[in-house]
Amino acid sequence: MPPCIRTSIHSTQIASLPGVPLMTTQQVEFTEQELLADHTVTEPLIAGGVRCHGGFDDQGRYVSPRTRFRVPGIEAWQQQHREQFGTEILDLPLETWPEHFPNVAQARYLIEAGVPEPLIATLTRIGTVEGFGANIRHLQPQGLQRHFDESIKGTTIDHLGKGLFEAHGRDEAGWEQEAGHKDMWFAARDVAFENPTANVDIEGMLQRMGFGQGGPGANGAPARLLPDDIDPNLELIAGLMTRVLLIEISAFHTFKWAEAWLSDSKLVAGDGEAAKLVSYIRADETPHVGYLKTALTEMRDRTWIGESGKKYAGTEMIGTVWDRALENSLGAGREATRKATLGEVEHWVSKKANGRDILEQFHALDGGAQQEAVA
Ligand SMILES: [Fe+2]
Ligand SMILES: [Fe+2]
Repeated sequence: MPPCIRTSIHSTQIASLPGVPLMTTQQVEFTEQELLADHTVTEPLIAGGVRCHGGFDDQGRYVSPRTRFRVPGIEAWQQQHREQFGTEILDLPLETWPEHFPNVAQARYLIEAGVPEPLIATLTRIGTVEGFGANIRHLQPQGLQRHFDESIKGTTIDHLGKGLFEAHGRDEAGWEQEAGHKDMWFAARDVAFENPTANVDIEGMLQRMGFGQGGPGANGAPARLLPDDIDPNLELIAGLMTRVLLIEISAFHTFKWAEAWLSDSKLVAGDGEAAKLVSYIRADETPHVGYLKTALTEMRDRTWIGESGKKYAGTEMIGTVWDRALENSLGAGREATRKATLGEVEHWVSKKANGRDILEQFHALDGGAQQEAVA
């Protein structure tokens, strides 16, 4: 594994912070109601006839939902952590992951060759995965202080079960009358391909891509990695947060990819509306990445307390969980998605008389990513 990946999880001491006050004076305690509160918007977001979350301010700028206190809260918790622990917030560059498969050239080619269905399937799969992201709200952590030696008062950790997981869940799956990311991706698909669900069997697509019973998202609890003495629920929380964080960061490849071809009005319908919708989803993801990496950093830099009272270094606990999640994200997990996507391409291309030629050209546009995936 390249050193840049391994070191990213470990604490980076901040040598000096000139001009930074000793203690943050910003608000670090929030009620659940505050963390779920919206900014005032002057115009709601309606896409493809669907009322979505978020909206536009009086300057016409898109405003993400539930960010009135959540965004300043994340900034304050990060600043507080730097001051209290002298370490930087963990991060991982987007370049850790290869670009999206199929790539932009392949996506364009499929549409131009009259085989848009694998793209319709991919947008459906992304929306479905976004919906699964809402599962994070079921964690409902309470009383996390007993697992840590240092105080967690006024931290991201302390707010996970007091609005942060709930806000995340609402953003992904929608809330009350407002559609979330799941339906926003479906709306982008329906705008770009003019309601393809009327003539494509979406359920069949999802089944083929492994989203039937027992498919992704229906997995049981993962095997334990940390000492038995560590509360299994704490490991579950840290593990899920890490996996979701890696999905959230790597998804920025997906946004760039989707916006590139959905914005081409010669290629798809909607005069760029679908691409704009994806850009709004992208904006909403920034606080997800923000609070997840802050909470994991706070856990990394604290001392963990086992059920027996024994103490464990947070760097080791989070490091173990992190290494396993990253290995899966770059290896088996990515390969499974790629295989399912390629299967869908082959399925639809085989229905064309010149299917063999289309598939050959599709692979020729891969730019070497296929060989790299096998290596
Ligand atoms: Fe999302
Ligand atoms: Fe997200």
